[in-house]
Amino acid sequence: MTNSLVYLKTFGCQMNEHDSERIMGILSELGYTTTEHPENADLALLNTCSIREKADQKAYSDLGRMEKLKKKNPSLIIGVAGCMAKQEGSRIFHRSPGVDLIFNSKNIWRLPLLLEAVQKRKQKIAALEDTPYLRPYPSQRQGKIKAWVSIMEGCDKSCTYCVVPYTRGREISRPIQEIVTEIDGLSRSGFKEITLLGQNVNSYGKSENSQGDFPDLLKALNNIEGIERIRFITSHPWDLSDKLIHAIATLTKICEHLHLPLQSGSNSILQRMQRAYTYSEYFKKITKLREAIPNISLTTDIIVGFPGEKENDFQETLNGLREIQFDGVFCFTYSHRPNTPALNFSEQIPNEIKKQRLQDVLNLQREITEKGHQRFVGQTHEVLVEGPSKLNLDRLSGRTRTNKVINFKGDRSLSGRLVKVKITNVKSYSFDGELCDKI
Ligand code: SAH
Ligand code: SF4
Ligand code: F3S
Repeated sequence: MTNSLVYLKTFGCQMNEHDSERIMGILSELGYTTTEHPENADLALLNTCSIREKADQKAYSDLGRMEKLKKKNPSLIIGVAGCMAKQEGSRIFHRSPGVDLIFNSKNIWRLPLLLEAVQKRKQKIAALEDTPYLRPYPSQRQGKIKAWVSIMEGCDKSCTYCVVPYTRGREISRPIQEIVTEIDGLSRSGFKEITLLGQNVNSYGKSENSQGDFPDLLKALNNIEGIERIRFITSHPWDLSDKLIHAIATLTKICEHLHLPLQSGSNSILQRMQRAYTYSEYFKKITKLREAIPNISLTTDIIVGFPGEKENDFQETLNGLREIQFDGVFCFTYSHRPNTPALNFSEQIPNEIKKQRLQDVLNLQREITEKGHQRFVGQTHEVLVEGPSKLNLDRLSGRTRTNKVINFKGDRSLSGRLVKVKITNVKSYSFDGELCDKI
C-alpha cells in the first residue's frame, strides 16, 4: 500500500464520469487518495474525451500544465485515460513527452499492473487494446443518493461522424445477474436512484452471457427493494422496441424521461450519417411513446453542419424540432474527427454557417422549451431530494421523475427522500416549487 495523492480530472460524458469512479475504486485499494491540487500529486490522471475537436484541445492544454509541474517534481507520473488516449495513441507521447501512461476505458482494470510497470521499469506504457469481456471492479462513487451503473460498454453502430465505435471498441454487455447484484449492494448502502449507462443502452444484451435484452434487465431491476428510481442513457432510436416502450410504461420505477438523439431532421443527412432511421420512423416511435406514456419528457441531440447539409436539410431539422417539441436539445456543430468515415466526405460546411445554424437551433429550442415547460406550472410532482440547492443553501434541490431540477423550501433532513412538490414557477434551467407533504 502506498500513501499517495492522485489528481484526477474528467472530461466528457457520464460514462467517463463513472469510469473515473472506477479508476478511483482501484486506486483507493492501492492506497491513493484524491487531491484537488495537481502540484501536490504523485499521480496526475486526465480521463479524456475525444467526441469533438475541442475536447482533444482541452486535454492537450491540461497536459501542458501537468508537464510544467513535472519539471518541478520529476517523480510525478502523468497518465492519460479514456477516449482521447485511444484516439491519439502514441501521438500523445510525442506531443506531450512528459506523459508516462496511456490507457483506454477497457483497460482500466489493468491499472495496478500498469502503474507498477511505469514505476518500476520507468517505461512509457500504452494499453489500448479492445477486450472481449468485462470484469467487475470496485467504484468509489461521488454521491450517496444517486449512482451510475455501467451495463454495457462499446458501440456496434457506425454513425459516420462518431469516434465512439473506435475509442470504446465493440459492444459488450454485463450479465443481468451481475448488474442486479451490484444494484442490490447500492440499495443496501442507501442509494435511491440508479442511472444505467451505456453508449447504446437499449441494444443491451447481445453478449452471449447477458441473460436477456434491455427490457428484461429493466424488469429485473424494477424488483430491487430500496431503489426508487431507474434512469438510463443513451438510447438509440433504432433499438427502441415496442417491448421497451411497454416496459417504460408499466414498470413503476422507470422514470418518464427519454434522451433519444435525433441528430438531423433530413432523411438524406440521416442516411449519410448512417443513423438507420428516417425522420418519419423516428417520429412514429415518439408518437407511440407519447401514447403509451403521456407525461414523458423527451430530450435529444442535434448535429448541425454535417458534410453536405444544405439549407433545405437544415430547415427540415428546424421543422422536426417544431413538430416534436422536445423538452430540451443538446446541439453541436459537426466536428471533423480522425478515425471516422465522414472525414473523407465532400461538401464540408464552412464554420460561419455551422455557427449560424447552431444559433438558429438554440433560439428556436429556447422558445419551445419555455413554452413546453409552462405545462408544469401548478402540477404536483414526486421529487427525490438531493440536498441543499447550490445557489441558495436555504433551499432544497431535487429532480422530478421527468428529470427537471426543482428548488423549494424544506428541511435538510429530507435529503434522499421522495417528497411531493407543487411547481410554482419555471425558469430557463430549473423550476421553483412548494413542498406539499409535511413529513
Ligand atoms: N451513443 C450516443 C451518443 C454519444 S456522443 C448516441 O448514439 O446517441 C453524444 C453526442 O455527441 C451525439 O449524440 C452527437 O450529437 C454528438 N457528436 C458525436 N460525434 C460528433 C461530431 N463528430 N461532431 C459533433 N457532434 C458529435
Ligand atoms: Fe456514436 Fe452512433 Fe454509437 Fe452513438 S450510436 S456512440 S453516435 S456511433
Ligand atoms: Fe467523449 Fe468518449 Fe464519452 S469520446 S463523450 S468520453 S464515450
